[in-house]
Amino acid sequence: MPTTQRPAQVVHEELIAWVKQTADYCQPNAVYWCDGSEEEYNEICQKLVDKGTFIRLNPEKRPNSYACFSDPSDVARVEDRTFICSLRKEDAGPTNNWVNPKEMKATLQALFKGCMKGRNMYVIPFSMGPLGSKYSRIGVQITDSEYVVVNMRIMTRMTLQVWDILGKDGEFIKCLHSVGAPLAEGQEDVKWPCNPNVKYIVHFPEERAIVSYGSGYGGNALLGKKCLALRIASAIAREEGWLAEHMLIMGVKSPDGEKTYVAAAFPSACGKTNFAMLVPPKEMEGWQVTTVGDDIAWIYPDEQGKLHAINPEAGYFGVAPGTNCKTNPNAMATIAKNTIFTNVAITPDGDVWWEGLTQEVPDGLIDWTGNPYDKNSGKPAAHPNARFTVPASQCPSIDEDWENPDGVIISAFIFGGRRSTTVPLVYQAFNWNFGVYLASTMGSEMTAAAFGEIGKVRRDPFAMLPFCGYHMADYFNHWLQFGRNLEYPPRIFGVNWFRKDENGNFLWKGFSDNMRVLKWIIDRIRGRVVARESSIGWMPRYEDIDWRGYEFSREDFYKIIRVDSEAWKAELLAHEELFEKMYDKLPKEYIAMRELLLSALWRLPAKTGLASER
Ligand code: OXD
Ligand code: MN
Repeated sequence: MPTTQRPAQVVHEELIAWVKQTADYCQPNAVYWCDGSEEEYNEICQKLVDKGTFIRLNPEKRPNSYACFSDPSDVARVEDRTFICSLRKEDAGPTNNWVNPKEMKATLQALFKGCMKGRNMYVIPFSMGPLGSKYSRIGVQITDSEYVVVNMRIMTRMTLQVWDILGKDGEFIKCLHSVGAPLAEGQEDVKWPCNPNVKYIVHFPEERAIVSYGSGYGGNALLGKKCLALRIASAIAREEGWLAEHMLIMGVKSPDGEKTYVAAAFPSACGKTNFAMLVPPKEMEGWQVTTVGDDIAWIYPDEQGKLHAINPEAGYFGVAPGTNCKTNPNAMATIAKNTIFTNVAITPDGDVWWEGLTQEVPDGLIDWTGNPYDKNSGKPAAHPNARFTVPASQCPSIDEDWENPDGVIISAFIFGGRRSTTVPLVYQAFNWNFGVYLASTMGSEMTAAAFGEIGKVRRDPFAMLPFCGYHMADYFNHWLQFGRNLEYPPRIFGVNWFRKDENGNFLWKGFSDNMRVLKWIIDRIRGRVVARESSIGWMPRYEDIDWRGYEFSREDFYKIIRVDSEAWKAELLAHEELFEKMYDKLPKEYIAMRELLLSALWRLPAKTGLASER
């Protein structure tokens, strides 16, 4: 079979044998060793244009950018087809799908035989994390999707240097991917090959290997992201004593130049990218937010107990709908060029559009299914999970240390979800353990029917529910132990931008105004402000929030930070549902902490839910 010249740097016997074995088994037309160069990227993009998969956007409006439409059956991560195939079922835990690895391998073997017929097989070397950093990991993805190759070049460090780092016997994570759509002799390809009926996203944590079949979309197919950097990495991190988290990393600079880094976890669809790129309100002159990462953080303790965090990714795979110059001006500037758009709508002048980009829907759109858009159809023009893939380096707020191999030092963790009631705008956990408890029990109201009843709270511990590569209760224990090992564990905060009043209106404007909350968090970390005690943690005093440019009455403030005893009793009791699932491994501290929190609710003044100001 035709093969491009294997790069001279590839000297790793096991890797060479794996590539050969895979090619023999999957029977592609040709094997192509990627070098990650710009020429290669342009060539493959052109190939996708020739095939009709990519539409080149108007170079005057969106230079060097493309749009494409996926198959309607292939638009998002498929959690019910995602498996953690550890040797023992109890190591995958109750929140993951599990199949015996032997059985799963037999299933996959049957599917992969000849699955690349009529396609090229690409070998992608990539580093998650800055090249050569002691915190980075190497992956090698084999794929039969050109879309995956060009997206991986944006999302990871994909370069020949990876082979040098790997050497003869370096460790790498095997990532095998096929769209699962072999072509018979002479059969014409479709624009978005995938397997509409059979999808498997499989992780073998002990072997540190990933196999993905049937999907070409996002986290299902770009295996460096959710599969490697979260599911496999979380299992490695537990073994090695670090953290692989579904967190953004941001730097916060105060007017006098003091810089503080925080990491924050929010479930999918809660505006992580917007928060990571926040532009402070103009009245808070001198405050600045810088972006290290918008989705994943790898966090390592050093000998002094400091936490070093890197963003393992090199790009953003962000949700397009809702992104505009108000919600995220930095993202808008980032995607001005060199961007791949998937499942957005296209304007008649060759640019992109999605719901929320402008108030008015332009005329003459092509919608994400590739058809002329009927504004009266009641359907969105862009798919709600439409995405942009773009290099992180183009972000105006990118942090100067985002590629520092030593990472940045994390001073606090923030956890948030989408809750219209109960959870205050912000609070600080009493200590590490209570913070871990709050993160373990965090939940978010569902916005997409795919995950259950809209509006119902879905518990999403640490925003890791779909991404933890092992038993969730072992993960809780890992966090508790991690804190025990630190002399000064970072402070932990809970936030909720989505609380509503009794008429169903949002109480908080959000977006740039979240800087006001962030400033209070920084002030707490730096020991600059006192706080009020509530039964669930430390709360801000009205006068300690920077209200310049925002009229927010003391009354509204108490509404938004109120700890309602009855609502919290119900909330704490509802945690039982999560705990029951993992009763065999649940940290014993959790039962005690729940009891303590419950008992504290009885002694509170019912009106504000707050102790007096101190
Ligand atoms: C993502 C997600 O795509 O969390 O980042 O779903
Ligand atoms: Mn995410």
